[in-house]
Parts: sequence; structure tokens; C-alpha cells
Amino acid sequence: MKVESLPALPGNYNLHNYDEVSSQFDWNDVEKEFSWYETGKVNMAHEAIDRHAESDRKNKVALYYMDQFRKESYTFYEMKRMTNRAANMLKSHSNLEKGDRIFIFMPRSPELYFTMFGALKMGLIVGPLFEAFMEGAIYDRLDDSDAKAIITTPELLSRVPFDKLPNLKTVFLVGDDIEEDDHTVDVLKHIPNCPDSFEVEWLDKEDGLVLHYTSGSTGKPKGVLHAQYAMVQHLQTAKWVLDFNEQDIYWCTADPGWVTGTSYGVFAPWLNGTTTVIIGGRFSPEGWYKAIEDYGVTVWYSAPTAFRMLMGAGDALVKEYDLSTLRHVLSVGEPLNPEVIRWGAEVFKRRIHDTWWMTETGAQVICNYPSLDIKPGSMGKPVPGIKVAIVDDQGNELPANQMGNLAIEKGWPSMMRQIWNNPEKFESYFLKDKWYVSGDSAYKDEEGYYWFQGRVDDVIMTSGERVGPFEVESKLLEHPAVAEAGVIGKPDPVRGEIIKAFVALVEGYEPSEELIQDIQQFVKKGLAAHAAPREIEFKDKLPKTRSGKIMRRVLKAWELDLPAGDLSTMED
Ligand code: PRX
Repeated sequence: MKVESLPALPGNYNLHNYDEVSSQFDWNDVEKEFSWYETGKVNMAHEAIDRHAESDRKNKVALYYMDQFRKESYTFYEMKRMTNRAANMLKSHSNLEKGDRIFIFMPRSPELYFTMFGALKMGLIVGPLFEAFMEGAIYDRLDDSDAKAIITTPELLSRVPFDKLPNLKTVFLVGDDIEEDDHTVDVLKHIPNCPDSFEVEWLDKEDGLVLHYTSGSTGKPKGVLHAQYAMVQHLQTAKWVLDFNEQDIYWCTADPGWVTGTSYGVFAPWLNGTTTVIIGGRFSPEGWYKAIEDYGVTVWYSAPTAFRMLMGAGDALVKEYDLSTLRHVLSVGEPLNPEVIRWGAEVFKRRIHDTWWMTETGAQVICNYPSLDIKPGSMGKPVPGIKVAIVDDQGNELPANQMGNLAIEKGWPSMMRQIWNNPEKFESYFLKDKWYVSGDSAYKDEEGYYWFQGRVDDVIMTSGERVGPFEVESKLLEHPAVAEAGVIGKPDPVRGEIIKAFVALVEGYEPSEELIQDIQQFVKKGLAAHAAPREIEFKDKLPKTRSGKIMRRVLKAWELDLPAGDLSTMED
């Protein structure tokens, strides 16, 4: 697909000399920015909060929090005190020790972040859980990781199967009217009475930080463990990619139940001393635009599905809000369609910068930097200091323009350290003990930009032609009637596979044979005859993960009448 490239923004960016930096960069230089470089004593919560509370940033706002009922703000100094209290509360009401797993299962609120960083101060490994998980998903994660404690709310408590989890000894409850017993602690009652000083547990840089469960295409979700050392990449990518400066007001829309909501929701901004906005409650276009206007958000990190939903809410709505503070907009999690970039440039007067990474990588890996021209549809170029390549199934590097496995050379700072309890699974990610194989297919163009093609198992072979479902989906989305599209390869006795599209229509459009033909023609014309879906089926809604990815494997299962596998990450 040919799309015009968008020139880099004018201005002096943190990474204004990408090529030069890429050729000389050394992660050791970033280590010098942390206090542990001198002391050897590491703790994420110290670096993200206490270090600033003890500096000129003491009275700078760390957290703006807003939901339907609360509007609050906390400076770095106040965050230090609140997280100290939370740490004291956790410590005095449990036998938790360094390295134990504690899960946090609650909607976003200031208390979520107080207790999360309190737990980190104690040296615990934090497992964030999305509030929409049901009992089975909770059980799998807590059982696999042998969790000792959970922080949750009275409303969600019934989904925690204590009877099946004998090692889950303590539940910290955040809510009103809580009856305490040997295992149950009333967080809101104790926090105000706990001392506001706390000696953090000093750790080694390889000690555990967070445990994120993520589902693959088969089997149960697996526990991806990250180390404290990941902070090196969190700090530096935020400078280069999010382009932070001291005045920024930053909003990452992701929930901490997903890796984006920890790595870039709180770690990356706070490591940089950046003011962070957290909005609780559910998505609404009005609420989101209002949040940008109210707080004067300057840097905004979200996901393609969210942008598409905003796009669906119409341009007139955008004009009702003052979004002029926005200077940098970014996206992650799934392919960012050129159509969405074009729309963003029009309505926000900002082009959306795509970033690629995954739970296992812990932080951004391939990005569009403000200093580089954007090629819409491309994920951008590797973060300096990280070697990315396209490799074949044997781990041999492929030349430009050849599609293959998107791989990363082992050893980048925020690389996962373990798959919990499953060393074989961990090893299975690597080829030749050198390449971490992402499971995504992609190619690199002559200029070093990477182009996402799909998950490896999603790529469609039709009549001998390779077709990336993303390209077809992007094209479909440009059709005025199409709101959402998911494309799969459907087995075909003659062609190997044919392309089948599932489509949700924009309100006001009705399914019809004419519309099918019109959409087919549109793709044929816009992309290629072989890329046009031979079959189109209309659906009210498509199955998506909570981070917004269309679940093609569920579409495929529908199509082939097969079991859909693990659905714990699917949105309601
Ligand atoms: O397929 C890629 C897709 O999301 C996968 C990782 O998902 P998860 O671990 O949930 O992490 C999402 C947020 C960090 C990848 O293997 N993905 C992520 N970013 C992009 C993407 N696909 C296309 N373009 C992206 N920018």
C-alpha cells in the first residue's frame, strides 16, 4: 500500500539526532541517572517517587486523579508519604517478605497506586489484574504464581476463590464497612494511622518488579516477570519517544492491569518526574476530551481502538473541547491504521505516533519519534541500543523487504526475566540463544522502518500470494460504512485460503448484497484484487481483547466451528 510519508515535526526534540545516537548509544550511560548507580541499592518506588520528593520536584504534582466522584491531586512529596503509609500498612498486617507475590485487583483509584508503590517499597512482586477478570482468570494467575496476598474491593471479593488458594493468606480490602478478621485488613481504616516514613527494602537490580499475565494463542495465560532493571529502559524511552519535558502533563489511558498501564502509566513518567493524569471509570468520548481540556494534557498515549472509537464519535464533538494543549500523541497495542493517522492529523492537528512493543519486551522497542518522518502504517524504527531484525525460522537474518519473524537481540534492559514457573516456555521464545522471536511477522524497508504484517499464524496465503490481514483491515476501515474489521484466512480447497472479512458497520448502514460488493470493489481498487475479501460477514460487534486487539483467532474459531480457546483477556 502506498501512503505518503509525513515529514518530521519541526523543533528540538529529545532525540533530534536519531542516526547519530543509534550508532553510539550505551545503556550504561542511562544507569548513571539513578541513585543506585552510586549506592548499588535499588528500588523502583524510590526512583519513581522518593527521589523526586527529596528534590526540587518535591511540590510538583505527580498524580492528577479524576473519576465520576473524585478529583484529587498529589505532589511527589505527598505520594512519598501515602506510599510509605501503605507500605507500613501492608507490612504490619501480613507476613509478606521480599519477592512474595501480591496481586492488585481493583478499579483505578489513588489507593491502587498508593498500595502498588507501597508493595514495591516492601520489595514485593506486584501482579496487576484487570478489574473485569472473572473467577477463573483470577484463579489461574494467583495459583500459578503462588500469591500470598491480594488487594481488592468488597465488590470484587466474591471473584477471588480463597478456598482453592490455600497460600493466599491475606486480603487487603479498599472500601467502606469492612469487617476485619485474621485474614482481612481494612485498608482505608489503617492507612491514615500508619507512620508516614518507611525504610524501603533495598534490592538487587535483577530482583522482581511486576508479574504480568498475558495469553498466547494456546494454553493458559503465562506469567511474564520483569526485573527492577527495566527502569533503565522505561526512563530513557520516555525521554526519546514520549519526548517528555519538565512542564508536560501526561496521560496514558491504559489500565495498570495491562503492561502499558504500569510501564508507561506510572513507571516511565514518574521515573522522569513527569506529572501524570489517571482517569478512572469507563471510556466515553466526552469524558476523554474533557480530561484533556481540564488538565491541559500535553502528551497523550493511547491505543488504535480508542482512536477509532473517538473517530466514530464524530468530528463535531472534538470541536466542542479545547485540545490545543496537546503537542504529542502516541499509540500502542495493535496496528495503527493510516486512516486513523490521517484523521488525527486533521482533528487534533497532531499526527499520531505509533509504537511497537509487547508484554514480554517490558518497554517500547520500535517507535515513531517526533524527529523522524512518519510513514503511515509503519511502526517506525528500533529504539537506539536495541538490535531488531527480521529472521527466518532458523534465526538467520533476512534482507530488507522480506517478510519474516520480528526478532530482538537478547539482552535489552527491560526484557522479561522469566515465564513464571515455566523455564521451557521461556526458552522457547529464543532462536540460536540470540534472537527473541516476538510471534509477529513484519518486514523492514530499505530505510530501516519496520512494517507490521500480523501475528505469525495470522498471515494469509491465498493463491500463492501472501496477504497481511492488517493491510486488508486498514483498507476496509477506510470505507465509509466500516466501523470495525477483522480478517482471517479461511481454508479453501482451490486457493489454499481465501480472505474472509468480519465487519461491524457504522451506525446508519444496513447489511446488503450491494454493500458487500461495494466494499469488495473498494478493497480491490485500493489494495489489490487478490487482497479483496471473497467473503464478508456482518456482525454487530467484533471480539476484542481489553487492550483493543481484534481477536482473529476467535473469528477463525467462529468460522470453523472450533473452540475459541482462552477468552480471559476478551472484553465484555
Ligand atoms: O502483535 C503485536 C501487537 O500486540 C502484541 C503484544 O501485545 P501485548 O503483550 O498485549 O502488549 C500490547 C502493548 C504493549 C504484539 O505482539 N502490537 C503491539 N503494538 C503494536 C502491535 N501490532 C501492531 N502495531 C503496533 N504498534
